[in-house]
Amino acid sequence: MSTVGSDASLATSGPSLGSGEMFDRIARRYDLLNRVLSMGIDHGWRRRTADSLGIESSERPEVLDLATGTGDLALAIARRHPRARVRGTDPSRNMLAIGIEKVRRARLDDRVSLEAGDAQEIALADESVDAVTIAFGIRNVPDRRRALAEMARVTRPGGRVAILELGEPRRGILGPFARFHIRHVVPQLGALLSGAKEYRYLQRSIAAFPEPEAFAEMMSAVGLETEVVPLTFGVCNLYVGRKPRRAS
Ligand SMILES: C[S@@+](CC[C@H](N)C(=O)[O-])C[C@H]1O[C@@H](n2cnc3c(N)ncnc32)[C@H](O)[C@@H]1O
Repeated sequence: MSTVGSDASLATSGPSLGSGEMFDRIARRYDLLNRVLSMGIDHGWRRRTADSLGIESSERPEVLDLATGTGDLALAIARRHPRARVRGTDPSRNMLAIGIEKVRRARLDDRVSLEAGDAQEIALADESVDAVTIAFGIRNVPDRRRALAEMARVTRPGGRVAILELGEPRRGILGPFARFHIRHVVPQLGALLSGAKEYRYLQRSIAAFPEPEAFAEMMSAVGLETEVVPLTFGVCNLYVGRKPRRAS
């Protein structure tokens, strides 16, 4: 594994790094699109994720941020936890290049490193990190069960896996408005701003994501005691999975 800013850190390898290709095409506009499409709320959701890790009392916590993209969650975690070391990985070279520059400008390159990697095959030893995070990334991973099993594998007993993902609120008065926003506004505005058809994919992938209860079940199946925290009326959900400590 290489460190921030080196050319080697952008080398892609491994079986399914091709899934980052779509994000390579939209990388330059990604941050702007995020702000516009979520109306700026996405920063607050990432801060909630950083708050959920339970690492405050650790001396030197190690955090792995999968599908780190342009690094916003990795940066939010480093700012919230000044003693934490954050390693972000993603298969998209172009997303990582923007993230690496943001880390450098934030002067956090002593604690945040970004490098190529696939959530389905994490290049870390068993039980080697205090927390694993992934924001708006799990729905892009072809084999979600395998990725969840990998997250549980690398997390230390007592550590946490925090997953942030958009949803389609099906109930409540906000449901129809949120669905309209995701199904029509997001792809139209996304295509207009980025010139890419890829934002149609965003809408389809959100609609195809399992219901919160079903996804929490998948996390429980890999041994994580999971709680679902709906954010902004369920437009987004934060899934916090705790890896049980071993009985002594
Ligand atoms: C919507 S972006 C999220 C980026 C960032 N986490 C954020 O909060 O803005 C989704 C990311 O998932 C990445 N991705 C796609 N396939 C992946 C895989 N198999 N493993 C890990 N990340 C993947 C993409 O390259 C992209 O950067």
